[in-house]
Amino acid sequence: MAEAVKVPVDGVAVTAIGVAVIRARESEREDRLYDDPLAKEFVAAARAGFDEERWTRLEGIADQFYEGRTIGVRLVDDRFREAIAAGCRQIVLLGAGLDTRAFRMDLPEHIHIFEIDLPELFDFKEPVLAASGATPTCRRSVVIADLREDWRKRLLNSGFQPSLPTYWVDEGSLGYLNQAWNQRVVQTLTELSAPGSRFGAGRLVVDENAPQYGALRSFVAGDSTPEPAPAQRPADFDVEHWL
Ligand SMILES: C[S@@+](CC[C@H](N)C(=O)[O-])C[C@H]1O[C@@H](n2cnc3c(N)ncnc32)[C@H](O)[C@@H]1O
Repeated sequence: MAEAVKVPVDGVAVTAIGVAVIRARESEREDRLYDDPLAKEFVAAARAGFDEERWTRLEGIADQFYEGRTIGVRLVDDRFREAIAAGCRQIVLLGAGLDTRAFRMDLPEHIHIFEIDLPELFDFKEPVLAASGATPTCRRSVVIADLREDWRKRLLNSGFQPSLPTYWVDEGSLGYLNQAWNQRVVQTLTELSAPGSRFGAGRLVVDENAPQYGALRSFVAGDSTPEPAPAQRPADFDVEHWL
């Protein structure tokens, strides 16, 4: 199965594999903060697409982000449950990556999760899920879209209902967009939000000049490309203040 799957080995979609490495590791701990059994399926399938050197680098980068990222996953799990208890019926994951909350959180059938991400991400994710035989406990819709383009139409065509309260989650995708795109994404989701909707961002304050972000940017850009500059944001940028 692994040979048949197209693994994203560079580009932003590769960052989702790094997060799956983190969730797989956390799931093996006795005192784990959450359990994501599908994460190790993604990691095994992805491993086959990487050469030794690049995989070692990916694991090294995942190590550097491990603590903050894994605590963030648990916090978002908790916010999920709170949002559902407060009446949110739809959940939209912006840059869903290899998220498996539709499968692992025992969410009820009336909850509808929409996963937005790039085509190359789902080209990898969907075959791995199918091979694992996993079935979501709630409704799950894959929305293949670029957040820099018109994702609104694709979301609506997937059954999203603007009249229902929605929980919007950004767990690491907006950091890859520039401020103008971020502004447009948040404007669009605000327009699509019925009263009672919520928005949660996984990262509040990030120093994009820190070494681990440089390593991540180089990795995402692929080995032949020089490390790109950090996104153009003010040095004191923080999401909470911006919102
Ligand atoms: C760091 S990963 C996080 C994935 C997931 N939220 C998680 O926590 O596991 C960032 C994700 O954002 C997606 N992404 C980045 N830019 C995007 C864009 N312009 N449109 C859609 N998805 C994007 C990537 O493909 C990747 O899956």
